[in-house]
Amino acid sequence: MECLFQRTRLTRSTQNAERKMHIAIVMDGNGRWAKQRFMPRVAGHRQGVEALRRCIRACARRDVQALTVFAFSSENWNRPLDEVSALIRLLGKALAREVPELNTNGVRLYFAGDRQPLPEHLRNELARAECATAANRRMVLTVCFNYGGRWDIVQAAARLAAQGQPITEAALSGALALAHVHDPDLLIRTGGELRISNFLLWQCAYSELYFSDKLWPDFDEAALDEALAAYRARERRFGRTTEQMQRSA
Ligand code: FPP
Repeated sequence: MECLFQRTRLTRSTQNAERKMHIAIVMDGNGRWAKQRFMPRVAGHRQGVEALRRCIRACARRDVQALTVFAFSSENWNRPLDEVSALIRLLGKALAREVPELNTNGVRLYFAGDRQPLPEHLRNELARAECATAANRRMVLTVCFNYGGRWDIVQAAARLAAQGQPITEAALSGALALAHVHDPDLLIRTGGELRISNFLLWQCAYSELYFSDKLWPDFDEAALDEALAAYRARERRFGRTTEQMQRSA
């Protein structure tokens, strides 16, 4: 099943604060959250879904234009089988439950990642959820599932090569799995680790990085506002000097 909807790239306004922002999040720390409570890791992931739901609402209220989250990496297949199965089941359940609320909040859902190894019923549910939310315009939520930054660059380059197209920056950007949104302005990683872990390698070239010690299930609205305040205090120069930025402001 394929949903044919426009993959128009959202353009970024230069007057920001949260309006028109693209926030990407590595939601790390579910396992530790559960371990601290003597619970199985999957309980942490369930709580992670709740944190994600709060975060989507909070971002929509702040007029964030795009939110992209890392839900399952290409490398997560190496986790114990019961955890992998639980994450796949959680995604299926979340889809069934959340689509009506996404529609109420005007959130369009999009999945990025290699769908081929996923069970057929899940692939169908992903496509159905994308179709069901395709008309929403307030915010784009991209869930990266079975996604890896290296996979993304390779699939984009392979697609261009197969079409006999020259590989330029613009062509490659347009063939990546996140071609429907502008590059993230802010990349947040929770859980205290200081790395990108193969997430959006191409797209985060100029993103501001923000690391939080909070475990993902504890990442609440106040924590999001702290990250946004830190972002607002940064000077984004995109390779230029402070003086040049001031002159063009
Ligand atoms: C990393 O925490 C988190 C994941 C691999 C899964 C992220 C998934 C969610 C937040 C739930 C939302 C998911 C769906 C399916 C929509 P970790 O398990 O590596 O935590 P740890 O570093 O404490 O072990």
